Amino acid sequence: MAVYEHDVLVVGAGLAGMRATLAAHQKGANVAMITKVHPVRSHSNAAQGGINAALTSRGDSWEDHAQATVKGSDYLGDQDAIEVMCQEAGDAIIELEHMGVIFNRDETGHLGTRRFGGQEVARTFFVADITGAAILQVLYEQVLKAQVRVYEEWFVTSLVMADGECRGVVALELMTGQLHLIKAKAVVLCTGGTGRIYEPTTNGLVVTGDGLALAYRVGAPLLDMEMVQYHPTTLKGNGVLITEAARGEGAYLLNAKGERFMEKYAPKLMELASRDVVSRAEQTEINEGRGVDGCVLLDLRHLGKEVIETKLGYINEVAMDFLGINLAEEPIPVRPGHHYQMGGIKTNVLGATSIPGLYAAGECAGVSVHGANRLGANSLLDTLIFGRRSGEAATAHAKEQSPKEVPESVLEADGALIRSFLERKPKGDSWARVRLEMGETMNQYMAVFRNEEGMKAALNKVCELKERYPRLAVQDKGQVFNTNLLFTLELGFMLDIAETICVSGLARKESRGAHYRGDIPRRDDVNWLKHTVVSWTPEGTQMDFAPVTITRWQPQERRY
Ligand code: FUM
Repeated sequence: MAVYEHDVLVVGAGLAGMRATLAAHQKGANVAMITKVHPVRSHSNAAQGGINAALTSRGDSWEDHAQATVKGSDYLGDQDAIEVMCQEAGDAIIELEHMGVIFNRDETGHLGTRRFGGQEVARTFFVADITGAAILQVLYEQVLKAQVRVYEEWFVTSLVMADGECRGVVALELMTGQLHLIKAKAVVLCTGGTGRIYEPTTNGLVVTGDGLALAYRVGAPLLDMEMVQYHPTTLKGNGVLITEAARGEGAYLLNAKGERFMEKYAPKLMELASRDVVSRAEQTEINEGRGVDGCVLLDLRHLGKEVIETKLGYINEVAMDFLGINLAEEPIPVRPGHHYQMGGIKTNVLGATSIPGLYAAGECAGVSVHGANRLGANSLLDTLIFGRRSGEAATAHAKEQSPKEVPESVLEADGALIRSFLERKPKGDSWARVRLEMGETMNQYMAVFRNEEGMKAALNKVCELKERYPRLAVQDKGQVFNTNLLFTLELGFMLDIAETICVSGLARKESRGAHYRGDIPRRDDVNWLKHTVVSWTPEGTQMDFAPVTITRWQPQERRY
């Protein structure tokens, strides 16, 4: 059997993963990247509107960006981490530019910006409405140039632990169906979010919470899992993302009476209030009968054909392809839809988890810079800043380690699980049915508005699905690219993480940011200005709490 061994192994090839890989390479590590899809099919590819940074050289202030991020987080973000992210943002943008990202320019030829929600300053840098794809391609070029080993279309099934440390991963090579041991002195999880736990979602099919479940199953605590973002503008029907950049360029939100209803909810920032505020406003309009067929309308007509075609061309195509709507001629129906996981694997600002040798960055990590509500265009920034930091920290850790033994018997448990799915005969229930029931349940009860009864119903359903899971059979019995098996293994991860979202939601007895409880509609700083922390134990989930780090911005009432 081949032995694979590295100083640092990065799991995931989105922006966080590529940035971590490049950082480890630059620091001299023998680094490899492992990814279940081709790198440029990673979900960062779908990020549309842009990336935030305060360029101090043009008179913007990182403190103002940080203050907006803290307020956006409903004061749940850790302010030391937010300060790091906002202080380092300007250099990250310039670095991307130097690598070759062709950001849009303004009329003076300088890097152009647009405004995003929850901020009064235009500090979102962008490449039309395909910013994620543009950055991903450029970082991939850098990874290729560095000649880093990429385990492409390999799926990590578990982390290898010995003496309380992480020493590598077990992975399924999708082309052959073989399980492999990859040893590493440090592992960096950059696997993205948990999107497909919800149905519908803006997230791609690959977003199945893998890294969170891998870490959780070996005892790493997860932070603020109840904080799940609903994006205000997802397409009627399939929930495809319609970028916030549309509102950043000046689009209006209208109800059935043609009113710009955000006047009532956020008179100052209107459509560009923070996402939790706008999504709640839309849902209220819909629930109170002022919606249009379960949606509200996003009106871009006054922006004109040229702005739409040059800056918002991708969403114009989406609107035409799915609904036959030309954005220059007709408003488009949108509604709040699942988009982002604010919580994640608890880390410090270097990406270190509670487990020696295990790091995490990007959407799977809870560092925590987003708290209870993320500002639009802060996620790409998070991936770059904490991707780099975790790659560097993992390298420093690896350099201090001497080679340690890992027995190949670590493959046995995953091998047995896979065999059990393959050997069992299909008897009616299927991974697809379980996954759909999970997604629809989460979207019904763990959404924009929640309450005790609904969250309990969601938890009960997830527990029922978890009982059905081990009895599932995989229909395709083959070895080569068995996507049926892959989806079944992913589903196991998703069910574990769905449970943590429900348990954490039930634990938080207040409303804050994206966690809005109709039965307790107030924020309660006296009792609840703290993080929820959920851990796996053999007896079930364990809930703890951790303090929020406040450096300079005391909690205030949020008004937009
Ligand atoms: O609306 C958007 O373009 C999404 C951006 C983000 O989630 O940061």
